[in-house]
Amino acid sequence: MEFDFLTAQAAIEKAIQQFNPGENPAELYAPIRYIMSLGGKRMRPMLMLLGKYAVANDWQKEVQAAIAVEMFHSFTLLHDDIMDKAPLRRGQPTVHEKWNDNIALLSGDAMLVKTYDHLLEHTPPALLPTILHRFGKTAVEVCEGQQMDMNFEQRKRVEMEEYITMIRLKTAVLLGFSLEMGALLGGASPATVANLYEFGLQLGIGFQLKDDILDVYGEPDKFGKQVGGDIIANKKTFLLIRALELANPMQTRELDYWLSVDDFDPQNKVDAVKEIYDQLHIRQQAEEAMNSYFDKGFAALAAANLAPERFETLRAFAQSVIEREK
Ligand code: IPE
Ligand code: IPE
Ligand code: MG
Ligand code: MG
Ligand code: MG
Repeated sequence: MEFDFLTAQAAIEKAIQQFNPGENPAELYAPIRYIMSLGGKRMRPMLMLLGKYAVANDWQKEVQAAIAVEMFHSFTLLHDDIMDKAPLRRGQPTVHEKWNDNIALLSGDAMLVKTYDHLLEHTPPALLPTILHRFGKTAVEVCEGQQMDMNFEQRKRVEMEEYITMIRLKTAVLLGFSLEMGALLGGASPATVANLYEFGLQLGIGFQLKDDILDVYGEPDKFGKQVGGDIIANKKTFLLIRALELANPMQTRELDYWLSVDDFDPQNKVDAVKEIYDQLHIRQQAEEAMNSYFDKGFAALAAANLAPERFETLRAFAQSVIEREK
């Protein structure tokens, strides 16, 4: 069957809606329903369906398996928002704000376990060991990336190369895995699986660069998260690292001041740091870097040698990810 984005999106939403995590205690399960039903781009389940469609026709069969990656992703968001002290997610209060930290931790734990249940239930037995092994590796890599992200908050300086490693782990590997799992379910050859994984990985690095850009320059209504959160938290984003590379002595002093001051007005800090980014044309440079990773992703997609209409469908989806505003 041909791939249709609206049909796929609707099938994903329907499966999420029908998914019942459990009932009691309500404080454990209500946050799971809440975070899952708030929406979000559903990019990872879409990538899984596209990974399957890349090499096979019956992509609609994999909607349940695709929910597993969305559940894992949503779990990482519950914990990430505690770590990042984020007030907003998907346009609504974060779970730890609406309930509390302990509830967000425990609901997240349950979601991680349920991800495994879901994979177990919806993966053909012959593929299960490979998929569980690859998923486990991916999930631990996400933890590694998240720990690096937090370590970097405490450091004065981070090299660009370390940053790229960090975002590859915290974000990109899951996009790679989603495509990979879809391709595995479709019986793709090892070379095709590897190329599709690489496509997801490079797309994911570009995607996180865009996330960093939107965190500073996004429109609050569309973005659905607190704009300026990365600056407030001293996140070592592409933008900050490049600014520190290019800053003159006065700009360096000012950036160092904002990185070290404990008591500040958040809006003043965001405005001041953003002003330096603008002076140094950091946004344009971040966009160039982002585009170079998207190009690498398209090269890997081309190397997968898919049938032309399948290549085009995957390319079009990647293009929509590139152009996103939230
Ligand atoms: C947020 O992911 C976390 C990052 C890796 C930047 P998304 O931007 O895909 O969030 P949702 O799922 O659409 O809300
Ligand atoms: C999040 O990175 C990566 C994971 C959730 C694993 P960010 O912290 O930048 O994501 P957002 O901006 O909160 O969505
Ligand atoms: Mg984070
Ligand atoms: Mg965050
Ligand atoms: Mg972010």
